[in-house]
Amino acid sequence: LCNRRKKIPKPKVNYTIQKEDTKVVTQFDIEDLGDKIAFCRCWRSKKFPLCDGSHNQHNAEARDNVGPLLLRRDAV
Ligand code: FES
Repeated sequence: LCNRRKKIPKPKVNYTIQKEDTKVVTQFDIEDLGDKIAFCRCWRSKKFPLCDGSHNQHNAEARDNVGPLLLRRDAV
């Protein structure tokens, strides 16, 4: 009897974005973000790193529940 289990790789998150890079890192200056912005967290956006609503299709197809990171500047 073999006790060694085959290691199954975890599923990928990023299928298409900057695959030529070893790591996808995005940097913004906070002052340039404006009053409201939505960042993609599903990795399906055609406008990555910004959300374009593609998470809705992903959620429907994968029965998932991911959504954007919303940043809002409160009026002072
Ligand atoms: Fe990815 Fe909206 S498109 S979170």
